[in-house]
Amino acid sequence: MCGIVGYVGPSADSRALDVVMEGLARLEYRGYDSAGVALVTEDGVSSEKRAGKLGNLRAALEEQPLPDASTAIGHTRWATHGAPTDENAHPHHGGEDGKLALIHNGIIENFHALKNELLADGVVFRSETDTEVAAQLLARAYDDTADLTLAMLQVVARLEGAFTLLAVHADAPGVVVGARRNSPLVVGIGEGENFLGSDVAAFIGHTREAVELGQDEVVTITPDSATIVRFDGTPTEGKAYHVDWDAAAAEKGGYPTFMQKEIHEQPHAVQDTLLGRTDDEGRLVLDELRISEDDLRQVTKIVIVACGTAAYAGMVAKYALEHWTRIPCEVELAHEFRYRDPVIDGHTLVVSISQSGETMDTLMAVKHAGDLGAHTLSICNTHGSTIPRESDAVLYTHAGPEIAVASTKAFLAQITACYLLGLYLAQLRGGTYADEAQSVMKELAEVPEKIQRVIDSMGRVREIARFMADTRSVLFLGRHVGYPVALEGALKLKELAYIHAEGFAAGELKHGPIALIEPGQPVFIVVPSPSSEHGLHGKVVSNIQEIRARGARTLVIAEEGDEAVVPFADEIIRVPATSALLAPLVTTVPLQVFAAELATAKGLDVDQPRNLAKSVTVE
Ligand code: AGP
Repeated sequence: MCGIVGYVGPSADSRALDVVMEGLARLEYRGYDSAGVALVTEDGVSSEKRAGKLGNLRAALEEQPLPDASTAIGHTRWATHGAPTDENAHPHHGGEDGKLALIHNGIIENFHALKNELLADGVVFRSETDTEVAAQLLARAYDDTADLTLAMLQVVARLEGAFTLLAVHADAPGVVVGARRNSPLVVGIGEGENFLGSDVAAFIGHTREAVELGQDEVVTITPDSATIVRFDGTPTEGKAYHVDWDAAAAEKGGYPTFMQKEIHEQPHAVQDTLLGRTDDEGRLVLDELRISEDDLRQVTKIVIVACGTAAYAGMVAKYALEHWTRIPCEVELAHEFRYRDPVIDGHTLVVSISQSGETMDTLMAVKHAGDLGAHTLSICNTHGSTIPRESDAVLYTHAGPEIAVASTKAFLAQITACYLLGLYLAQLRGGTYADEAQSVMKELAEVPEKIQRVIDSMGRVREIARFMADTRSVLFLGRHVGYPVALEGALKLKELAYIHAEGFAAGELKHGPIALIEPGQPVFIVVPSPSSEHGLHGKVVSNIQEIRARGARTLVIAEEGDEAVVPFADEIIRVPATSALLAPLVTTVPLQVFAAELATAKGLDVDQPRNLAKSVTVE
């Protein structure tokens, strides 16, 4: 997620650039790969932008200082459309005269159609971004209205997707206009100066009086006013509040840890990963897929390579990919795959999954696959990282930067991206499930709200975690797609609370693990929906009965309304009904919350667990 800062100060003041640069520095924690600023000066709009970290931008500004200004906007970009380059960095200018500058956080879903309209009209684009399309539209709207607020209202009426926009215009000094849809924007109210930010960290050094914008609203700030209207132009008031966080807490959006913040960002991570994936006819389109459709039609085997949590996302994907595409799918730990002599050829698609895109084990596996003649596709959360660059094709997740070492939102986004790949291949190859793709996409669109409902109902899970702070061993059981969820739940507890935890396929119990069950042994069981076509619900309920009869403390994750588990559950954690293959997007959340809360109860560092790094860049 990008960082956004806007400032309008007293006309005599010339500290706009300093205020915006300071705000961008406070937003650095969000992760980014380029940065830029635009100022409204007496000579018009001046801007500077650079790929890389803020230091690159500072050096450019020192080399070629911008004129003094009292109005400015600034941006740190987390690339979604277009690599992290100087040209793709924000701000983007609109119109021939470059009088308008725009910055943007989010994804404009319908930018292809809008861009084609502008190209047909002779507009020349300098970047690959969806943002520049909005900048060109806004410049035209300003020429029509000579009013930046009215121009913004005209443009947002045409945009679909998620966006926070900030704009300035050379002919409107002392004004910054912002708009928000499905992406945060907050106003900072100062004395004779006003601020805008993607979160309060952008301006907390100057004011703690904030006003949060609601959905589909446009705000216009001057040094002495902050006026808000709805997208239909009717006036409204934002939600005013006093920010009582300190600067450090502000970076975490008020959450105690980045991990808690990222758990709460999961609905958006899934929603943003789904955005912009279908064309006007509702057919799936994927970005950066540089493998020909013919080659994809001829794929006879898929091999997924990844590590840790990303490997568990691959295990979930296996069930969906095989079901929808009828292509055999193997999941391999990257560090094992690399040293095997795998049977792969030019008809094999090797899919790597990596949040960082820098995991050396996974990178080496991708290179190994390429050397053996396979097509390689990277599912990655970090634009411009090494693994996508080494791959024939890329499908980016849009989870935004994941700061906590323990992966949460990236995991759900990886699973979502795997579903998209499977549905795309099914559609491309035709056959039984091609038509199912659209109905699954509709169900996927409803999942972010279901994840939110789970997040909002975690009070009892937190109590259980605190009660179990001294436990020394927890087991996790699941079947079908619930099995990799059980493995992920165990990994979360291991890496956060340093507790022995083990995940098993529930069907494996009687083949050995049931010997571990003794009175009081806590066991999480991920129960499939009673309506699952695979018919495993009854078998998992029997598993619960078997371990409960031997004294286990059963912590059951089950669908709302599933009464069959009640007689055998010491605790029931309810999740909304979903179809079998999509269930991991909701059943994983209680296990993330449990592990984070238990680690917190033990006084451990949830964001930086001992011995672990966010990206394992060594073999
Ligand atoms: C998960 O919580 C861990 N941080 C770790 O297992 C991680 O998923 C693994 O190292 C892979 O990292 P990547 O997704 O960046 O490749």
